[in-house]
Amino acid sequence: MMARIEHTREGRWGGRLTQKPLPERDEAIEALAPELRTKLAGIWLSRAAMERRVADSFGVVAQALARRSPDEALVRLAERAVDDEYRHAELSRVVASRFAGRPLPSPALLALVVPEHRGASPELRDTLHVVGQCVLNETTATAFLESCLSHATGGLARHALRELLSDEVDHGRVGWAYLATTSSDTRRQLGRWLLPMAYLNLRLWQEESPVDPEHHPALSAHGAPPGEVIHAALVDALETLIVPGLRALDVPVGPLERWIAAGAFTDRAPAELVD
Ligand SMILES: [Fe+2]
Ligand SMILES: [Fe+2]
Repeated sequence: MMARIEHTREGRWGGRLTQKPLPERDEAIEALAPELRTKLAGIWLSRAAMERRVADSFGVVAQALARRSPDEALVRLAERAVDDEYRHAELSRVVASRFAGRPLPSPALLALVVPEHRGASPELRDTLHVVGQCVLNETTATAFLESCLSHATGGLARHALRELLSDEVDHGRVGWAYLATTSSDTRRQLGRWLLPMAYLNLRLWQEESPVDPEHHPALSAHGAPPGEVIHAALVDALETLIVPGLRALDVPVGPLERWIAAGAFTDRAPAELVD
């Protein structure tokens, strides 16, 4: 296991981990009971593992954009996003270590399973990879982080969440900007793929932030609000950001809207709602 997760000097902050230095002390952390510190260290370390996996996903996105995007700047942004996500992984590991009170090793690598999108043409598959990571996952990541930030009071957590948020907003924009360059035919074809992708995305988020009836308020203070709060924020992002954004680009959103109207359930596949 590596002690650090590597990001490079070519990245957004010239090799620094954050735009502004993290606070050296957070008395709110020092005042926490040991079991809460251990719990928060575990939560932040599992976020480090997920950020690291997103770096791999952006490798796929950058290749897809290199093949399809007429805008070179989007390819560069996606390449930078790989480095951003390495930084996010390392930042999350550093935050986890502060809660633990000792340097924690990098978490085990989570394998990325690249969606096959069986039956899609190579061009549509590339577009689906960009849409899945950027339009869906980065937009919901933004909502997740905003929700965490709005409940956080701890200085270290707030600082880290703001740093993460400023990159994820950019990552989402890559997808929206690319989608606007695709043909109306491609956008029409996207319609039938969106609901299963959004469903899987929401289910993954819910697995990562499960509802805990014994959720302690101190967790909210340090960046981990209750699962139900996070779930509501994610569904709200689907309803108020993602669906309107897709509709504005003439992507068919009927199945997505029906699923959201039915409560955005994730306990079963929404097969009956697909057109
Ligand atoms: Fe990230
Ligand atoms: Fe991101």
